[in-house]
Amino acid sequence: MNELGELRILVVCLGNICRSPMAHGVLLRRLEHAGLGDRVHVDSAGTGDYHIGKGPDPRARMATGGRGYDISQLRARQVEPVDFHLYDLILAADRENLADLMAIAPGPEERAKVRLLLSYGRSGAKEVPDPYEGGEADFDLALDLIEDAVDGLVGAIERDEWARDASA
Ligand code: 4NP
Repeated sequence: MNELGELRILVVCLGNICRSPMAHGVLLRRLEHAGLGDRVHVDSAGTGDYHIGKGPDPRARMATGGRGYDISQLRARQVEPVDFHLYDLILAADRENLADLMAIAPGPEERAKVRLLLSYGRSGAKEVPDPYEGGEADFDLALDLIEDAVDGLVGAIERDEWARDASA
């Protein structure tokens, strides 16, 4: 938390054009609905640098747009070392993203902020599968998993349990 008592959450995937922008848009909307829009800051980023400055993949825009989220204004950026200090919770889409984040985290305190996004979900799935080489159904599945995890996360924030052990 920063000095304003604001919780800061960063969602991370590889390219920051498919999974993390979808999660970013879902989180913003559901936090707003829960009346937490002013208390939680959300951003997203990629571990890779391939798509810096680009908007979300059109298939991610379609999938989210079909469920009432607008992610068209988001732009891809790469995770930076300072993010480990600025954010309280850094949520990886898959285990590779998690490992890449752990490898660049400055120290143990920062590594403790990193966990899988789906650790807040109830589906039993651990990773959001990379839909980049897939089709519409893969984006819809990714969004199903993201919505489930975001519901769990928003509930955990409401109960002030967001920092609970990721393995619990
Ligand atoms: P994302 O999907 O990590 O969910 O944004 C990808 C986007 C781009 C690439 C891979 C995954 N890529 O290899 O360019």
